[in-house]
Amino acid sequence: MKKIAVGCDHAGFAIKGAVIEHIKGKGYDVVDVGTYSEESCHYPIYAEAVCEKILDGECERGVLICGTGIGMSIAANKHKGIRAACCSDTFSARLTREHNDANVLCFGERVVGVGLAIDLVDAFLDAEYLNNGNHVTRVAMLKDIENKN
Ligand code: RB5
Repeated sequence: MKKIAVGCDHAGFAIKGAVIEHIKGKGYDVVDVGTYSEESCHYPIYAEAVCEKILDGECERGVLICGTGIGMSIAANKHKGIRAACCSDTFSARLTREHNDANVLCFGERVVGVGLAIDLVDAFLDAEYLNNGNHVTRVAMLKDIENKN
């Protein structure tokens, strides 16, 4: 069964449970890397934990939730092989799979409610990379940038 890694900081904790239950309901296994309470913590820890699950092959994709989604996306994009997108609309959540082959979806609990969070997850998990033409060229260019830096 395909596995999805999910992580949050204290500012994403309140909706993480509902997001995980929704992902499980779609037929995926979920690896919950924490955090497990609303006690203040540091989002890069959880971004790194989710990215490691993807990079070591245990999980296919990841979902990261913080207050804005921005800190998580910055932290996740520091990892070679991770393409994380911070989204607050479903069009972007779908297109970042289709065009960017994004493997991590980030969003902010302080930006989106639980209903939109679930729609974002659906858009992201239901879409596939359009593995052809300019999309392949451009994702390869992203990898070239990674390799130069
Ligand atoms: C925590 O207060 C907040 O800064 C964090 O959740 C996130 O929004 C950072 O980008």
